[in-house]
This record gives sequence, structure tokens and C-alpha cells, in this order.
Amino acid sequence: MGLPSASTYPAATRGHTGLDLRHLRRCLGRFTTGVTVVSYRSGEGMRGVTVNSFTSVSLDPPLVLVSIARGAKAAVALRDAPFTVNVLAADQLDLAWTFAGRPVDGARVRWDSRVGGVAHLRGSAAWFECAPWDAIDAGDHVLFLGAVVAHDQRQVEPLLFQSGKFRALGTELGAGPGRQADPLSWIQHRLHAQRLTDDGARAVLNQL
Ligand SMILES: Cc1cc2nc3c(=O)[nH]c(=O)nc-3n(C[C@H](O)[C@H](O)[C@H](O)COP(=O)(O)O)c2cc1C
Repeated sequence: MGLPSASTYPAATRGHTGLDLRHLRRCLGRFTTGVTVVSYRSGEGMRGVTVNSFTSVSLDPPLVLVSIARGAKAAVALRDAPFTVNVLAADQLDLAWTFAGRPVDGARVRWDSRVGGVAHLRGSAAWFECAPWDAIDAGDHVLFLGAVVAHDQRQVEPLLFQSGKFRALGTELGAGPGRQADPLSWIQHRLHAQRLTDDGARAVLNQL
């Protein structure tokens, strides 16, 4: 059985899905993501665009993907062009706004680059320099696939985005069943999740 094609849902392709799009956006916003800036060269120097639709796709070959709105300048600039995905650190919130078209006074944009490579943002949690692999039209967005040609990372807290708000990491819950990260974070998580009173907190502690 094949996958449903656009012609299976002709109404959907014309934007008359019957769905409540505001509700759909709220539902999609429940998915927590990191925040990246996709950097690329332009005639006037380096450019960037804030993007949370970044995902890893394949290790062999090493492919990543970003989804860019058709109306964004980046959707034109990234066609057949190399780019770098910069995963923002929690202390780079000003850069997230700046590259989303809301410049922040005093935001420090500092570029580092490899010889011949597309520059990356200094201070990022990770960066992936990409050669263009494919561009796929998808509704009101274009999916840009890049083949990773260089990459690096730093052990810093990442910036997160959820339900329209920027956030920072919360409690670490462990690396596998029965492998909690550390007892203190587990207790903090339980207290937060259950909104326990002092008595409830003592009860949790007594169970340990
Ligand atoms: C947290 C966040 C995530 C965003 N993610 C995307 C995204 O994945 N794709 C996209 O096209 N725009 C995204 N945007 C919006 C663009 O950053 C914004 O429209 C930008 O001004 C487009 O710039 P350009 O027209 O210069 O390319 C995001 C904005 C924010 C604040």
C-alpha cells in the first residue's frame, strides 16, 4: 500500500482542511525543540535565520534538515548554497531574537570560520557545516537537506523553545529505565510534578 499522495487529499492541498489552524499551532507548539540559527553567505556578508525545525536525518550519509518558510529570504538564498546550522546555547537568547528579525540592542554576533567554510556563531552549543544536498517543496515551506562536512560542539546548556516561549533545560530524568540521573534531581522532579506540600515531600524522602 502506497503512502497517501497530495492528490488523495486535494482539499488539504488547497488549504481547506476543516482544521482549526490556531488550535493546530497550539498542539504543534507542545513539541519542545532546541533553537538554531542557520547561517549562509550573501552578497553583503554573513546572514542568518532563526530556525527550530532542525532535525537530524541520516548518519550514512550524514544528513540534516531545516524547514524554511517559502516567503523567507533564506528560502531563496539557501537554494544550492552551503549553510551552517548553529545550535544556540541558553545564553544566546538575544541571537535567537536578532536572527528572527527582532534585533536586540547590544546583541554580540561573532562569527568564526574554517578556511573555505560557511561561518558559525561563536559560543554555540554545536554547529554543523553543510553542503547542499536537496531542496524539497513542502506546502508553504521548503525542506533543505544538507550533507554535514564539518561539525563541533561545546558542553553548554542549550536554548529550548516550547509553546511559543524560550526555555532552559529542567530536571534530568536519567538515561534509561531504573537509571535515574542523580537522587537530588529525581526528588526535585517528584516534588515539582506532584506539587507536594512539605508533608508530602517528607513522605517522598521517607520512601527513599
Ligand atoms: C524560535 C523561532 C523558531 C523559528 N523557526 C523557524 C523555522 O523553523 N522556519 C522558518 O522558516 N522560520 C522560523 N522562524 C521565523 C524566522 O526566524 C523569521 O521569519 C525570520 O525573520 C526570517 O528571516 P529571513 O526572511 O531573513 O530569511 C522562527 C522564529 C523563532 C523565533
